[in-house]
Amino acid sequence: MTQLKDAMATTAREVERVMDFLLPKADDAEARVFQAMRYSSLGGGKRLRPFIVAQSAKMFAVDERCALRVGAAVEFLHCYSLIHDDLPAMDDSALRRGRPSCHKKFDEATAILAGDGLQALAFEVLAAEETSSDAFVRSELVAGLANAAGGEGMVGGQMIDLLAEDHELDIGAITRMQRMKTGAIFAFAATAGAIMGHASERHIHALHSFAQELGLAFQIADDLLDEVGDSNTTGKPVGQDGAAGKATFVSILGVERARSQARLLAEQAARTLDLFGERADLLKQVAAYVVDRTH
Ligand code: IPE
Ligand code: IPE
Ligand code: MG
Ligand code: MG
Ligand code: MG
Repeated sequence: MTQLKDAMATTAREVERVMDFLLPKADDAEARVFQAMRYSSLGGGKRLRPFIVAQSAKMFAVDERCALRVGAAVEFLHCYSLIHDDLPAMDDSALRRGRPSCHKKFDEATAILAGDGLQALAFEVLAAEETSSDAFVRSELVAGLANAAGGEGMVGGQMIDLLAEDHELDIGAITRMQRMKTGAIFAFAATAGAIMGHASERHIHALHSFAQELGLAFQIADDLLDEVGDSNTTGKPVGQDGAAGKATFVSILGVERARSQARLLAEQAARTLDLFGERADLLKQVAAYVVDRTH
């Protein structure tokens, strides 16, 4: 695990530098939205999605600078989703990454715009020639992230999440919601490196399966942290899912069974990478990490 921690810390540092470079800095009348975009995307977070991009890219010998740009794009998209997720109209969370959430630090309108700005920036970065010299790869990346983030992915999952505050969901419906809400972006991150490296369909498919299971395990762990975690460690409020009546694996299965389900999914995820041999060691370790994490 030390090897994983060190590798994650290195990618986090490198992607932070690239994000800082890519974020707008102008000092004009609109500067407030840039400040909010920077506030909510720099200086925090586990940077797990960029790490997955970097690891998948490494397996296919992709130029590291290109991989970091794609990692930055996924992280911008993720940060947008967190800003909007925290808004009063959604989860109404005042704390994010140990600091006031964007709408608390700024205001709701600025937070909405900062999220919009980060989402647009993500696609701008993917579409740039510096990200890949191959126009087909760029269009695959843009389409892939759009698909993962849109109505059939993250946005659709968030819709179900909010509607489920008043409705009971069974385990199948919750699984589908979590795959959309969280798994889809993970799947993009895991396949992006393979797409950049012109990998075979078989390899892309294996990484996709890995990330779907991983994303599900990751979201169950997140739901467990909301139930039994410590806000000082997670950097966000705890107990909110239960209070809002959210449908989660924890609300249906209880803490212990949800935890063993997450472990099972993580083991399954790791096994889907067997075909890559040692090259996938760190990605396999990520699977174990996501269920045992404390933040
Ligand atoms: C939180 O994601 C939102 C979910 C999809 C569960 P992370 O736990 O990756 O949040 P950061 O980026 O580390 O803050
Ligand atoms: C949000 O899930 C997942 C997103 C797509 C943003 P949560 O609402 O559980 O995320 P946290 O717990 O606020 O980070
Ligand atoms: Mg939410
Ligand atoms: Mg939330
Ligand atoms: Mg949560």
